[in-house]
Amino acid sequence: MPSWAPSASNRAKGGGNVGRTEAPVTLRGYLLCVFAAFGGILFGYDSGYISGVLAMNEFKREFGHPDPSDDSGYLYHTWEKSLITSILSAGTFFGAIFAGSIADWIGRRSTIIAGCGIFSLGVALQVASTTVALLVPGRLIAGIGVGFVSAIIILYMSEVAPKAVRGAIVSGYQFFITVGLLLAAVVDETMKDHMDTTAYRVPMAIQWVWALILGTGLFLLPESPRHYVKKNRHADAAKALSILRGQPVDSQYIRDELAELIANFRYESENMKSSWIDCFRGGWGNPAGNLRRVTLGMAMQMMQQWTGVNFIFYYGTTFFTQVGIKQAFLISMITTAVNVGSTPISFWTIEKLGRRSLLIWGAVGMAICEFIIAITGTVSEGSKAAGYCMIVFTCLYIFFFASTWGPAAWVVIGEIFPLPIRAKGVALSTASNWFWNFIIGLITPYMVDKGYGDLRARVFFVWGVTCTICVAFAYFLVPETKGLSLEQVDQMLEEVTPRKSAGWSPTANFANQAALDDADVMVAKAAHHPEAERTEKV
Ligand code: BGC
Repeated sequence: MPSWAPSASNRAKGGGNVGRTEAPVTLRGYLLCVFAAFGGILFGYDSGYISGVLAMNEFKREFGHPDPSDDSGYLYHTWEKSLITSILSAGTFFGAIFAGSIADWIGRRSTIIAGCGIFSLGVALQVASTTVALLVPGRLIAGIGVGFVSAIIILYMSEVAPKAVRGAIVSGYQFFITVGLLLAAVVDETMKDHMDTTAYRVPMAIQWVWALILGTGLFLLPESPRHYVKKNRHADAAKALSILRGQPVDSQYIRDELAELIANFRYESENMKSSWIDCFRGGWGNPAGNLRRVTLGMAMQMMQQWTGVNFIFYYGTTFFTQVGIKQAFLISMITTAVNVGSTPISFWTIEKLGRRSLLIWGAVGMAICEFIIAITGTVSEGSKAAGYCMIVFTCLYIFFFASTWGPAAWVVIGEIFPLPIRAKGVALSTASNWFWNFIIGLITPYMVDKGYGDLRARVFFVWGVTCTICVAFAYFLVPETKGLSLEQVDQMLEEVTPRKSAGWSPTANFANQAALDDADVMVAKAAHHPEAERTEKV
């Protein structure tokens, strides 16, 4: 093993004061890192706007076929409706996976900007379309763009954020998802009675605004320093760190943080490569192995979907009408607003209480609410009291989701992967989110519709059970990553089980003298030669 490669045991001997590696968080640094969270709007708005558009008379007239059974006199076939809705998930699924490779190649920031470009093309096709035959490819291409953006934003934010506020910053992404969902509902509601094609073209065209803001803003931000380290561009990494941390490039802070990144990457790449197949290596028995981490990330996103949250967002209006609650539309607006209002609580709790506690207690809270909804809705179906009770507990359920699993599931997948496979690990986890999102959307009508499962409120027994599984999942399998650098997370996974992880603290930095010396040379180079060579080799 080369002298600079610390082994699991000599990592701890790397050096000195554990707390020294990061500069104090400045407001400017915080705002720079949090900007990318805005991309959550694409995710939320795009998944939210289509249901309202599908219900618009003007849309049915343009895209449907004559059908006297509908008030507008027109309707599209059921398969067309299902295709228009679900093709987005197919696009996002594949988009997220492609993006995992592209982000290692052209960089995190450039991949997100490329995602905005692809997304804008898809939006152009949607706005121009007058037939399902063009609308569907438009949604597919926009979906690929959303897949790029949703997977790589998590990666980018986790890599650029200072460790002390990383959870809060990534939670900002979830906040913008909820804002996107709310905006979609408001825009649809405002436009629905327009008597020309602006009724649906405006909600579609507004998507451009989000892509434009995100793409332009990211253009001005630095690339992830960890990506530069992975590419051996250490002087560029020093410059990016200096912008993000608001410190001179040759300061002690930048030198120390860079040395940590270099030392850890060298250690990791001694032990692993970064192809897709490497994501599944490491064996099941090794908790720090890639296979275990990738499975954890994918399962985390799967379980987030199995909390049942999208049942409320995608199917809530229909469900509340079915169980006899009259103002079903109003209620879905209220749940969407509770979603937005409760997410910011996590900005504080995720750093204070940690990811693990939030996930465990959030799932407990959701499961209790779901069982209460299921029991009341079943024993006194149609009564006013049961109706009120269901509404209150649905709002409480959304409160628990929005302040815990909503953000924490994204935070955790940004933190658990080692650098060589991080882009691909986050991409696979995000693809898992979209896959289960699609599956749940597909099977839900069969669980609750008349003529099929007709479960009515009893469907909440199903979500109650899946949420109980989420409690066990979080308790046994999710490690605590609060306050650790992404490099320290690797060490923690090697040394303790998830149940003991909250009590673990790093004993030393990883950077040994060789990495510190390299960092010295690189910061000096970046400071004195702003156009430092892009291809230096170590
Ligand atoms: C989930 C989405 C969900 C949204 C609700 C996200 O974290 O992944 O599926 O619709 O939260 O706020």
